[in-house]
Amino acid sequence: MADTDFPKVTIPSLRAKKASGERIVALTAYDFPQAALVEQAGVDLILVGDSLGMVVLGYPNTIPVTMEEMIHHTKAVTRACRRALVVGDMPYFSFHLSAEETIRNASRFLKEAGASAVKIEGASPARLRLVRALVEAEIPVMGHVGLTPQSIHRFGQYKVRGKDAAEAGRILREARALEAAGAFAVVLECVPAELARRVTGSLKIPTIGIGAGPGCDGQILVFHDLLGFSTGYLPKFVRTYANLRDVIGSAVRRYAEDVRKGAFPDDAHSYHLPKGEVRQRSPKRKAARKP
Ligand code: KIV
Repeated sequence: MADTDFPKVTIPSLRAKKASGERIVALTAYDFPQAALVEQAGVDLILVGDSLGMVVLGYPNTIPVTMEEMIHHTKAVTRACRRALVVGDMPYFSFHLSAEETIRNASRFLKEAGASAVKIEGASPARLRLVRALVEAEIPVMGHVGLTPQSIHRFGQYKVRGKDAAEAGRILREARALEAAGAFAVVLECVPAELARRVTGSLKIPTIGIGAGPGCDGQILVFHDLLGFSTGYLPKFVRTYANLRDVIGSAVRRYAEDVRKGAFPDDAHSYHLPKGEVRQRSPKRKAARKP
């Protein structure tokens, strides 16, 4: 595929997509082969989400994910990407102590890991100050409102946000405030489709929905969910386009069966000595066996 088929995605080009009504395709990825597949499929934005804690590292939620883990995985993803815009997710407690520490952590995604932007959850007044500080430090920021998984202990469970007028109004105000603070896009997670459409219509920056209906400027899903490769609970908003758990599970079972019955490796999957070598070596082995 020629580079010109899918030109390099930039923050201005995402905004242009919104202006022209072209939908933005986003997906998470967490390592080199995943990112290569996602990039080659023409996805515009790759988020190295802290969801990696749950789908890759086996944590019960995203809280334990560390900066080191995020940087390690973001580096692997950017090595595979020339066209897609890669966004690194700021993990819990990487932006909670001070603006200075937030900027230092966020800058690692750009300087060490090669990402083009970071994502940060929430839009409290303190969070908005951080967004302004990051943008001031030339670090593009994608906001994230609605269901914010790092707030799991405050919310108590992962559920749709903004179902009542008060919370819907708050989410709309938060999205607008993120735009005013300089965010280049905002993720709307698990909110009613009507609210997401309203938010999308009231912003100049793109909205990227996940469980937020079709009225957003773009959509994002978790790589493992899309491919039927997740181990945990699958939310209603996920459409699975493949069943990798079955495909991989069956391949591994067939391999195990072949090894156990001696059917693998066979001759076709083994190396052999050249014919001459076999003849030269055989007498020596016979001689060695003589007393
Ligand atoms: O961590 C993640 O994958 C995310 C997306 C679900 C938006 O935040």
